Amino acid sequence: MNKQNMLYERFRNAEPSSTLRINEISNKLIDEGKNVYKFGLGQSPFPVPEILIETLKKNAHQKDYLNVSGLLKLREVVAKYHSKKNLYNYSQDNVIIGPGSKELIFQCQMVTEMPLLLPKPSWVSYEPQARILKKEINWIDTSKNTNWHLSANALRDYCKNNKYKYQLLILNSPNNPTGTNNEELEELSIICKENNIIVISDEIYTELDFNGNYHSISHFYPEGTIISSGLSKWCGAGGWRLGTLTFPKELKIIYDSVRSLASETFTSVSAPIQYAAVKAYTEDHSEYLNNSRKILKKVADFVYDQLSEIGIECIRPQGGFYILCDFSKIIKHNNIINNAATLCEQVLQNTGFAMLPGKNFGIEDEKLITRMAFVDFDGNKALSFMKDNTSIKDDDFNELFPKINEGILNLKSWLKSEFLS
Ligand SMILES: Cc1ncc(COP(=O)(O)O)c(C=O)c1O
Repeated sequence: MNKQNMLYERFRNAEPSSTLRINEISNKLIDEGKNVYKFGLGQSPFPVPEILIETLKKNAHQKDYLNVSGLLKLREVVAKYHSKKNLYNYSQDNVIIGPGSKELIFQCQMVTEMPLLLPKPSWVSYEPQARILKKEINWIDTSKNTNWHLSANALRDYCKNNKYKYQLLILNSPNNPTGTNNEELEELSIICKENNIIVISDEIYTELDFNGNYHSISHFYPEGTIISSGLSKWCGAGGWRLGTLTFPKELKIIYDSVRSLASETFTSVSAPIQYAAVKAYTEDHSEYLNNSRKILKKVADFVYDQLSEIGIECIRPQGGFYILCDFSKIIKHNNIINNAATLCEQVLQNTGFAMLPGKNFGIEDEKLITRMAFVDFDGNKALSFMKDNTSIKDDDFNELFPKINEGILNLKSWLKSEFLS
């Protein structure tokens, strides 16, 4: 008997999410004694702020199931935070706390009978989630001219043949995989309103905008925007698994459905984590955040400058920890490298540099485009350095970011010897 028949067709031969896979492969190579530069998984390099850790310890005894929507105090402070950042009045009754924003976005996709609209490229998991749910998926192309973001022109063109009553669009800025911001949010909001497009605004990196700006489409279209966020990126707590969705009152109907689904699935997020998370929203984290931004910008600029120097086309990142790189100017397709996946494999084998192919983000594989996450450094050490210094000089770079420095320089010298000599 073929055991695959036990599974729904869409789960047969399913593989784990590619970002987790690259991390597993990298760890295996490290265990075998190889030197690996981990530019694959986008995990925050920074420690969780001390006050959150202390509060977590104090709340280890919290053992009861909490409200499905989340701890009331936490929902109150999340609603207050987003009311301030997103310039709209959000109620704690329209906030839901979940085990990571990934799960909450999935639940939101599950309860809404709307086709999914995605800019190409988009974060790895939106599309597989929709596939699991058998949701219709429509991609819209972007280009370097609009920072690889959905442009108003592209959305307007797409909407000319609009045959749907409602659609669900996911926007993410600062963006994974591109590291850039969407500069057309206001124009996009008008088109979304006209075409009944509901937006999930994935704001998981918004606190890591290098200039400290908080841009959101909710500033122009609050009534049609669901805000997705959480602790994973800006406060280094990916493994704590706490995400949030904040709904405007106009979308209460979706909120109620997600809440009902949550009650039948994850019940509630770990109680001690929720008690500790309150401190993420009530304490002043400006020093931690300003320093995190300065550090990330320094690393982003280094990676951008180094890669651009040899003709790899990329856009200077504006926030978060990613950069999208187009190798097509320096590498022509050949017998070994004929798509981005083989490019990533060759680079990993020859240099130990792990990165992800663009196809994981919806980009055609024949395009030699990859995503790098520049987080392979000791965030604790870098933050301590910033306590005594206002900026990071070039002379300090290798001491603070040895794997970034070495990884990028090794990659460059391999590329030069293989393709540029
Ligand atoms: C764009 C984006 N959205 C959402 C997530 C999910 O974050 P979490 O589930 O940890 O809240 C990630 C994580 O990598 C991400 O990059």
